[in-house]
Amino acid sequence: MTDRYAVIGNPISHSKSPQIHKLFAEQTGQDISYEAIAAPLDGFAATVERLRKEGYKGCNVTVPFKFEAFKYAQLNLSDRAQVAKAVNTLKFNDETVLGDNTDGAGLVADIERNFCFVLQGKRTLLMGAGGAAWGVALPLMEKGTHITIVNRTEDKAFELAVFLQRSIFTNHTIQRNTPTFSKGYSELAGKQFDLIINATSAGLTDSEIPLPSGIFAPGALAYDMMYGRETPFMKFAREHGAQVADGLGMLVEQAAEAFYIWRGVRPETAPVIAALRT
Ligand code: ATR
Repeated sequence: MTDRYAVIGNPISHSKSPQIHKLFAEQTGQDISYEAIAAPLDGFAATVERLRKEGYKGCNVTVPFKFEAFKYAQLNLSDRAQVAKAVNTLKFNDETVLGDNTDGAGLVADIERNFCFVLQGKRTLLMGAGGAAWGVALPLMEKGTHITIVNRTEDKAFELAVFLQRSIFTNHTIQRNTPTFSKGYSELAGKQFDLIINATSAGLTDSEIPLPSGIFAPGALAYDMMYGRETPFMKFAREHGAQVADGLGMLVEQAAEAFYIWRGVRPETAPVIAALRT
């Protein structure tokens, strides 16, 4: 019998996840279906309950429900979901529901595998201190990169940096590169980074992030977690000689990680990324 999966969000019609999982299923010969479901804003838990009753095996969760999914799966969370305080993948077992977060693993896989960019020892600027930044900060640190956090609201950057610093002492998988934070974008003048990741939502409103022009080290990678169009950050990076990445590869990689959690099979991502780009 075909195992059923879905992605839950609101809005959801734009989601590429059904197409991605269809391609994964064809490639690996897994007999699954995958659909997009719009849950009412006050109806996330009820929607998940319905899917479980109907025999679905799991679902992905996207905006604005990742924190609700975290609360829903509170009794059985992966370490990385606990750290991110957000869940994007639910696996339905008979009695229990596992909550996981594959966003950070997806970002790291895209940067290292698809862009052949080694994170170990690199100077990384993580812009933003909202849910997206919290979701990827620790997986980045686990790769041995030197992180600086910067955010429009300084206090939030400080809070994330302190959290990461504490994690060094509680999590043996993190190498001891002390994370730092910047007091604001203007404080970055004179500094250079090998990797700059945009985890802010500034691109949604086409807002510019006030980065100083000399910020990119030679050979730097500029990574925007958004995809679909060039954001002001991507344009700025391109004009200042950096290699530019959008978030499409991360989207496919985080989906591959979810597919692996559900099916125990790891699909190849490169052909799927290529198919989505055409
Ligand atoms: P998400 O879950 O997508 O991270 P969020 O939690 O609302 O969404 O966080 C949005 C992030 O983008 C925040 O870090 C926000 O900065 P503030 O903490 O100062 O609000 C950042 N952001 C949004 N618009 C921005 C802009 N125009 N310039 C710089 N940063 C911006």
